[in-house]
Amino acid sequence: MHPERKEYSQKILCGPFKHRLFKPYVPKAPAMKLLEDCLTTGWIGEGPKVKEFEGLISGFIDNKFVTAVNSGTSAIEMALTFCKTTPGRDIVLTTPMTCMATTVAILNTGLKPYFVDIDPFTGLLSPEALRALPSGIIERAAALMTVHWGGSTLNMAGVSAFADEHGIMVVEDAAHAMGSSTASKDGGEALVGGWNALGDFTCFSFQAIKHVTTGDGGGVVFKHKKSFERSKPFKWFGIPRDERREHILGHSSYDITEAGRKWQLNDIAASIGIASFGELGENLARRRAVAAIYDEHFPEVTAEGEFPTRPLSSRNSSYWLYTVFVRDPYSFSESMRSEGVEVSNVHVRNDAYSVTDEFTGGRLKMAGLDYFSEHAMCIPIGPWISDDDATLIAETAKKYGA
Ligand SMILES: Cc1ncc(COP(=O)(O)O)c(C=O)c1O
Repeated sequence: MHPERKEYSQKILCGPFKHRLFKPYVPKAPAMKLLEDCLTTGWIGEGPKVKEFEGLISGFIDNKFVTAVNSGTSAIEMALTFCKTTPGRDIVLTTPMTCMATTVAILNTGLKPYFVDIDPFTGLLSPEALRALPSGIIERAAALMTVHWGGSTLNMAGVSAFADEHGIMVVEDAAHAMGSSTASKDGGEALVGGWNALGDFTCFSFQAIKHVTTGDGGGVVFKHKKSFERSKPFKWFGIPRDERREHILGHSSYDITEAGRKWQLNDIAASIGIASFGELGENLARRRAVAAIYDEHFPEVTAEGEFPTRPLSSRNSSYWLYTVFVRDPYSFSESMRSEGVEVSNVHVRNDAYSVTDEFTGGRLKMAGLDYFSEHAMCIPIGPWISDDDATLIAETAKKYGA
């Protein structure tokens, strides 16, 4: 873990901050109305609201194969479970620069994380580093999981070309990327999770502070109908709920052919999700407007040692995060926080946690990862940041990031 450099006051560590990095964003009146409907019907488990919520996500990304689950982590675990098809293929090629959920899902699926270096200027799994892997490792890959850091998908064409070449399934951890675009097969544009997206599985998170929130929740989007069909019983014990028949003894009649999980979303959560979804367009538009202001202040990085700069721009990012490269994240954070602006590195490189030691042999030495994790910090972005706030935050960050 990162060592503390010194003792910091509670105000520096926990605020209150004038400009927050994250906020749950649910419109209260529509959410209360939907919750009231849900409670009044008496159906609070998985039911019509979940179907409606899945339909909204499905319509937004233009992909019929969407299954809602109870978290983004469950979504990843489901995708990886479906990638476990060949004995001996037991590793997942992935980025260490992510939320620990990405790695925890790999471990809980009984697979082994194999961390590949990232591009220092995007923070994303590097296609070049993938190509440099020894063939013994590539042949053991059950899946390749890429994480769209902050909403950026800049590496997708290279990642997907590598996976195609080696017959490896691609899982997109899109917890940050609802509304981002990626490359499509024909070199055009695809919405993350869309019908023409490159990944075999796309996993969204609807956790409290995501673009769309259900309080906690997630969704898997499938490229292949067969996996989608498998997901429906899999999310709840393996029960094929659409095929149930009532039985005179009172139970429902069906067969269970695969031991599923208990991962379904419920109608209370989905009610909040439906209300939250109603704000998605506005949420994305505001994030992109704030990002455009920040972009005027921070040039794209062209070489190591340029501060403050920003990572290379991705097409149509959802901007869950706005990342900047600063010389010294410690003094940057202390100064920004003392001015009331909450900043954070958000995620800690996953090889820093001892649960991964068994797979890394201890902390990794990787040039891209070292650079990104030593200089990347995130500044507030979201619908609660006005144009004036954005200008002030950018000017403050420029002062302390150099
Ligand atoms: C990159 C990434 N993947 C996965 C997750 C897990 O999502 P959830 O909290 O919905 O399980 C998160 C959570 O923030 C995340 O940031």
